Amino acid sequence: MSCLAAEQIAGDADRGRELFRSLGCVACHSVDGQGGGYAPDLAKRIGRDQTPTGMAAGMWNRGPVMWSLITKRRLVLPEPDQQQMADLYAYFYSARYFDKPGDAQRGRKIFYWKRCADCHRLPAAGASPAAWPAQWPPLPDAVALIERMWNHAGPMREAMARKRIAWPELSAQEAADLHALLRAPPESGPPAGELPLASGQPGDRLFELRGCRNCHSGPRSLRGRFSGRTIADFSVAMWNSAPEMARRASLNYGEMRQLAGLLWQQQIPEVAGKAARGRELFASKGCADCHTRTLTGAPRLAAHRLQAFVLMAALFRYGPNMHKKLAAAGKPWPRLNGNDLLDLAAHLNRNALSGR
Ligand code: HEC
Ligand code: HEC
Ligand code: HEC
Ligand code: HEC
Repeated sequence: MSCLAAEQIAGDADRGRELFRSLGCVACHSVDGQGGGYAPDLAKRIGRDQTPTGMAAGMWNRGPVMWSLITKRRLVLPEPDQQQMADLYAYFYSARYFDKPGDAQRGRKIFYWKRCADCHRLPAAGASPAAWPAQWPPLPDAVALIERMWNHAGPMREAMARKRIAWPELSAQEAADLHALLRAPPESGPPAGELPLASGQPGDRLFELRGCRNCHSGPRSLRGRFSGRTIADFSVAMWNSAPEMARRASLNYGEMRQLAGLLWQQQIPEVAGKAARGRELFASKGCADCHTRTLTGAPRLAAHRLQAFVLMAALFRYGPNMHKKLAAAGKPWPRLNGNDLLDLAAHLNRNALSGR
């Protein structure tokens, strides 16, 4: 049992994109090549298999270098709270949705290759927004395109059966390319390659309300099936399986985002830490030296203080001071990986339960 993973905070990538600028991370870091060049590209670091705990460990280990650079460049130390760290994580992760940003030229090829052109008229290349066929209204992102297709899947399937066209399964990249082709007017929506992530919280209720749970429970449960998938992957998977989902509810764009966001959130592995190993680490990494003695000024640690987003927020706030105390004592900064953090939390959790 680990409360570290149990109550993960849901992040919002739209807010995260704003925060990346307003908190000043952009002065040093870039995301997918855009931004400062003084620090690692966070979208590249926070790859598809990176959990929040992994990001927290990375930030712990590299913190001292980061804080000294912030001081050296006379920048204000940002003080994000835990919700803001969750939003930033969602943003870094979402920036990696597509291997390549959507490309209208590739989209045009796919439109013919997947035989969309057998039934749909393509906007002329370079057509002005006014000349755009009414069929292709503004589509903020690839999920919006899939949402449209999902809601028309019934008539589409019948039309395809008549023309003997196989159900056009898509990859997330193909959906992004089709979106780049079909979004109109071209200026609308967030930059290609970025996809906003809805908060995962209401998704759970929607999963119930829209009847998904009727079919997806027991052996057909979607939990534990996926790893390293993106929001776009999930919406595309829904499209690809639409013919098998006979009684599927219509969804609006927000709902599609939320459901895909829920599935995304659920795939973040919830590994339980090992309390016994955590206890050894608490001593061997030196945490006990300060955090069990109130005289050192170090607060008593509770497990939830090591929850990934809480810890990342705390690192900005308290890390530099903790670093100073360690340096004054002539001790090196302890290095921790993601498993260490989970084990330490499990140990602190057990202490709390046993009343110590
Ligand atoms: C003054 C420059 C600067 C600012 C501002 C800054 N960082 Fe950093 N950050 C760095 C440097 C430099 C490193 C890498 C240190 C190293 O490689 O040892 C780093 C490392 C990180 C890492 C660890 C990456 C890894 O490789 O695991 C994370 C996560 C991170 N920063 C997040 C943030 C966030 C979020 C913000 C804004 C709230 C921010 N940083 C603001 C300079 C900065
Ligand atoms: C066999 C014919 C056929 C093929 C092939 C086909 N569609 Fe459709 N499509 C339809 C029909 C029929 C509708 C529903 C129109 C309605 O309900 O008014 C539709 C609706 C749509 C809509 C919703 C438009 C709206 O009004 O919101 C989108 C988006 C769409 N298709 C995209 C595609 C894409 C992308 C492909 C290729 C991967 C494709 N379609 C392939 C027949 C087809
Ligand atoms: C009538 C039963 C039914 C309903 C309702 C239903 N599904 Fe499905 N769904 C299926 C079947 C059958 C499959 C294909 C077999 C499988 O993957 O289990 C599937 C496949 C999927 C997949 C792809 C799984 C994969 O492994 O690629 C996703 C994602 C999905 N459904 C999400 C949803 C969501 C979200 C809803 C609610 C809006 C929903 N489904 C409603 C029956 C249903
Ligand atoms: C040299 C003494 C020292 C050591 C060793 C030390 N810390 Fe700290 N730690 C502090 C101090 C002092 C603070 C409070 C800083 C402040 O209030 O500005 C702190 C704060 C923290 C916080 C933030 C607490 C909060 O309320 O959010 C966490 C989390 C933390 N430490 C974890 C650890 C872990 C895990 C280890 C072992 C790997 C460790 N510390 C080792 C002195 C230490």
